Amino acid sequence: MVAPNPKLLFANTAVVPVLTIERVEDAVPLARALAAGGLNVIEVTLRTDAALDAVQAIAAEVPETVVGVGTVTQASDIAFAFSAGAKFLATPGTPPALATALSKALIPVIPSCATVSEAMALAALGFSVLKFFPAESTGGIGFLKAIGAPLPELSFFPSGGIDAGTAPAYLALPNVIAVGGSWMVPKDALAARDFSKITALARAAAALRR
Ligand code: 3PG
Repeated sequence: MVAPNPKLLFANTAVVPVLTIERVEDAVPLARALAAGGLNVIEVTLRTDAALDAVQAIAAEVPETVVGVGTVTQASDIAFAFSAGAKFLATPGTPPALATALSKALIPVIPSCATVSEAMALAALGFSVLKFFPAESTGGIGFLKAIGAPLPELSFFPSGGIDAGTAPAYLALPNVIAVGGSWMVPKDALAARDFSKITALARAAAALRR
C-alpha cells in the first residue's frame, strides 16, 4: 500500500508557504492573508508547541486553504497531524522506519530526500513526489538537474533557503512540481501582525508558475 499521490495538491499552485507558527492566534489570519494573495496550499511545521492547534484552527476555519503538516520526524506525528485535520504530510528527512510508516498514511505524503540514494529508497516504497530539503545547501538547482537523468519518474518539491529571487529558476526545471519556502511570511511582519504585507508577498509568489 502507498499513501495517496500528492500531485493533485499542486494542480493550481506552484508555491507552498512553509510556516512556523508560534502563536495559535496568528494561524487563522495568517492562512487567510496567504489565501487572499492566492496561496491556499500551506505547510505548518511541527516546530512549535502551537503547531497542531494552529493546523486544527486553519482546517476548521479556513475552508479555502489546504493545510498540511511538515517537520514530521516520527511515526507518532502522523496520527496527531491527521487528527488535527492535516490534508498532507511532509518530512525534513525520511529514515527507513518513518518512510515505512508514512507509506501507510491515508493522506498524501511528501517525504524528503537530500541524496540520490535517499530518493531511490523512497521511490522503491512507491513515493513519486519528494521534498528536496534543505534545497539550497544540498545542491540546489544543480542537484535537481542531475537527478532528473537517472530518475526521470520523480517530481520534486524543493524547500530550504529558496526565496522570491531563486524560486523561478527552480520552477523552470521539468522535475520540479512546486517550491516551498517562508519568504512570503517575514518574521517581523508576522510578529507585527502585518497581514497586508503578507498578502502582498503571497500575491507575488502566487504569480509564479511552473
Ligand atoms: C522547510 O522546512 O521546508 C523549510 O524550513 C523552509 O525553508 P525556508 O524557511 O528556508 O524557506
